Amino acid sequence: MKVAIASDHGGVNIREEIKDLMKEMGIEFEDFGCECETSVDYPDYALPVAEKVANGEFDKGILICGTGIGMSIAANKVKGIRCALVHDLFSAKATREHNDSNMLAMGERVIGPGLAREIAKVWLTTDYEGGRHENRVGKIKEYENK
Ligand code: RB5
Repeated sequence: MKVAIASDHGGVNIREEIKDLMKEMGIEFEDFGCECETSVDYPDYALPVAEKVANGEFDKGILICGTGIGMSIAANKVKGIRCALVHDLFSAKATREHNDSNMLAMGERVIGPGLAREIAKVWLTTDYEGGRHENRVGKIKEYENK
């Protein structure tokens, strides 16, 4: 599995935490910034990473900003992206099992690094269930292809 990760200036600490986690888990990843010496615009990071996941260059993407909201809104504009904004462990598991989410967004001003690490671990290791969910996810894909 190859993961693309990025944050804006509001998500640098959690980005580093998740990079450490992926190193420990032996997961291949690439960091797409930001360098964040000054404040940056989250779509400049969310959209390129989402495109890399949508075109298959990366299997999954993780985005962090202050709230996770801007990053998730931007990523979900890219066709083929199902970006889940997650701040609890139940949703981390459910969004993989039910939605087959291919991107995860979190907010560093909402949760701490410890919970973010556990959320990412669950999200990265939970498989999509398919079955009854296939029809539902299929309807989203169908809409995208209209
Ligand atoms: C930046 O101040 C902040 O707006 C951004 O990190 C994010 O929370 C946007 O949704």
